[in-house]
Amino acid sequence: MPTDTSRRIAFSAAGERAEPPTIAALMNAALEIPGLLSLAAGFTDNRSLPMAAVQAAVNELAELRDLEPLQYGTNQGRPVLRRQLATHLANWEPGLADAEADKRFFVTNGSQQALYLAMQVLCEPGDIVLVDRPTYFVYLEMLRAMGVRAVSLPIDDAGSLDFDALDARLRALIAAGEQARIRAVYFVSYFSNPSSRCLQPEEKRRLATVLQAHDLVVPVVEDAAYRDLYFSEPPKAPSVLGMPEWVEFPRLYLSTLTKPFSTGLKIGYGYCTDQDWLGRMLHTKGHHDFGSANFNQAVLERVLAKGGLGVQLAKIRPLYAEKMTTLHDTVIAEGLADAGWHWQRPDGGLYLWLRGPAGLDTGLNSAFCEACIEAGVLYVPGDLCYGDDGPKNRIRLSFGVLSGDALREAGRRFTRVARSAGV
Ligand SMILES: Cc1ncc(COP(=O)(O)O)c(C=O)c1O
Repeated sequence: MPTDTSRRIAFSAAGERAEPPTIAALMNAALEIPGLLSLAAGFTDNRSLPMAAVQAAVNELAELRDLEPLQYGTNQGRPVLRRQLATHLANWEPGLADAEADKRFFVTNGSQQALYLAMQVLCEPGDIVLVDRPTYFVYLEMLRAMGVRAVSLPIDDAGSLDFDALDARLRALIAAGEQARIRAVYFVSYFSNPSSRCLQPEEKRRLATVLQAHDLVVPVVEDAAYRDLYFSEPPKAPSVLGMPEWVEFPRLYLSTLTKPFSTGLKIGYGYCTDQDWLGRMLHTKGHHDFGSANFNQAVLERVLAKGGLGVQLAKIRPLYAEKMTTLHDTVIAEGLADAGWHWQRPDGGLYLWLRGPAGLDTGLNSAFCEACIEAGVLYVPGDLCYGDDGPKNRIRLSFGVLSGDALREAGRRFTRVARSAGV
């Protein structure tokens, strides 16, 4: 029997702040409760995972008889992979196709690690990050664990940035003496988690202008994790890397090969316009792990060299469109919209973002959440996705992992609970 010695440990402030992440609890629930259908975790589709492409890459590596991929790699990431990532990004942002681009890339253990590195070198407890509304809840939990305050960029009823309200919010922060505490801006700009919304070019431009007008030329982190996952039309907005309005800002563009290729290989990446910021993140990465899994990077290098990312994307884009339609059509057919629920049909990403009737509480400990678990279906409570002052009646449903019949059944179970929830 292990002895519980934890009462004798004096933890650091960061250790004291550490709380179990909600995402882990949701993932465990999906695995542990028999028969539960999870529309919660942002897993990708299991059956389309690219085993054949990975197998071919591993075979090739074995045939080369080069043992280097089985050795530690470099802290910044494999140079060839970084050049391939530069080519991939240049498909989106042709202006970035310079010969030095790969030097501004770094490869991480998922883009999640890059988010952590970025915040670790920028923020002290008590500092502020401006975040989109709603936003990626795992990132919000990370900020909380760091003692960093998330302040929302206000939105209007349609979900677009509300620039009058933003102006007022920034004025209030500055008047309260908080200007120097605002250390960064973060947003998920393409098929966002959780809202599936894309920031429109004009919104993105105006955001830069408003921040600049308030003398807030702070580091900006654009999280483009879902940019590649459009259903049929590529999103039109350039990233902050390709917009002149953002040129004065230190910019970190983050994306990943997990969602569009394989989550299990857990390789993400960043492109940073600021050498100093990049250097500090790399030093810190050296302390974390001095390099992401070299073998996984070597496999991806082979896959990208063969065009395997494009092949996989061509396969999963229509698949996710179909899965979205399955869930969307099921909840419509079962009467969710008639029961006062609203949502926008997404054009990419992995999520339906629902607004329930006013007054409904969908939080983790709510009667509604309990009723859903009882009915055998799990969702992400929307209130987790707000930096501050979030509404209680939002829900994120993920259509990524379940396949056709399970998705239909989960949609039916969810709608039954939603329809019977009297508000
Ligand atoms: C918006 C967003 N950013 C970053 C991540 C991290 O992804 P990964 O670490 O797999 O690259 C996720 C994962 O769900 C996400 O939804």
